[in-house]
Amino acid sequence: MIHARMSFDVSAIRRQFPLLSETADGRPPVYLDNAATTQKPRAMLDAMQSFYEHDNANPHRGMHILAERATDAYEGAREAVAGFLNAATPEEIVFTKNATESINIVARGLGAAWKKGDAVILTRLEHHSNVVPWLILKEEKGIELRWVDMDKDGHLDLSSLDSLLTDGNAKLVTVTALSNVLGIRPPLEEITRRAHAAGAPVLLDAAQSVAHHPTDVQALDCDFLAFSAHKLYGPTGIGILYGKASPLSRLPPLLGGGMMIKEVCEERYVPADIPARFEGGTPPVAEAVGFAAAIRWLGQYAWKDIEAHERKLLALAQKELLTVPGLTILGPQDVTERSGSLSFTVDGIHPHDLTHLLGERGICLRAGQHCTEPLHRHLKLMATTRLSVALYNTEEEIRAVAPAIREIQKQLRGK
Ligand code: ALA
Repeated sequence: MIHARMSFDVSAIRRQFPLLSETADGRPPVYLDNAATTQKPRAMLDAMQSFYEHDNANPHRGMHILAERATDAYEGAREAVAGFLNAATPEEIVFTKNATESINIVARGLGAAWKKGDAVILTRLEHHSNVVPWLILKEEKGIELRWVDMDKDGHLDLSSLDSLLTDGNAKLVTVTALSNVLGIRPPLEEITRRAHAAGAPVLLDAAQSVAHHPTDVQALDCDFLAFSAHKLYGPTGIGILYGKASPLSRLPPLLGGGMMIKEVCEERYVPADIPARFEGGTPPVAEAVGFAAAIRWLGQYAWKDIEAHERKLLALAQKELLTVPGLTILGPQDVTERSGSLSFTVDGIHPHDLTHLLGERGICLRAGQHCTEPLHRHLKLMATTRLSVALYNTEEEIRAVAPAIREIQKQLRGK
């Protein structure tokens, strides 16, 4: 079905986000910490409220009208996510707590059969959520972690990927769809093609990319993909694991409990089919409803408009920030290669101090290693400051950052 798209009017979009017009300390926040989490549109907040007011019950467990409504809402949300990702069937979508849990389901599930000598191929762009689960398997099973070479801007060397694949010991290739620090997007289709040619399945961490670009799991041909709803204008506490039906059906469950079984007796249990097998316990139903509402809300806007707007913001940020003395921007300098995040350092000012002092001026950025310590070690940096955009940000907000940094430089020199 083709829907007419709303015209892309940033002021009209902003008015749909209650928090963006809050003036707790006398001015609305300049919120540029969207890679950490996005703000929430009224449509999503109302959907969750309405679910609790009118439809609340435990799905799949009752025979009354409310349980039926809750089940329909929960399964309807699964269909919305499947449509958003162009999954072949809704059963390929597992609701989880977040991208971290999704990646852990794959790691524990696949890793159960791995042994010393098996390997996982990953990149230094990965978030800790796509590093630590593999390090746990390294400790437990003696598997090897193989890191794809890259240049300082985050361009992956695909010939290095090929050599890491040649001995046939790689059991998985995993890569972020968008770096939360360098803002670079690895060539996912090409990586997947090369991994599959060597017999290795592919897991994509799409946590950072889903709000900025369309995601088509069939076109990507990935075996697994993970993301959290809260980076996509949805609620916290819910994410998804996408898996092609066949590899997903071969994974054992991560959590045992109610509703993830077909049969339980005193000696054994038989796990449910996908996706229920990974959804033990009462699921996050209101969150699923909010998640689906966020997807529907975002679907009003054309991806090409979102991409063009955010590219313009990042180009402006790059141009403005480079006028600040001593400021270095990490990642690709060609802005067409960047999306989502722009990280930088400023000579003589610790990123934590800078980001704290920007925060005092109502400008919300993030400082630290952004859960990417291997990347920061590789770049020989203790920490960075990160500006990250969303579709509701304005050029005016971006223009506020560089003068504030210059002011802070002056303030610190005056001490
Ligand atoms: N993963 C989130 C970030 O990059 C929290 O900030």
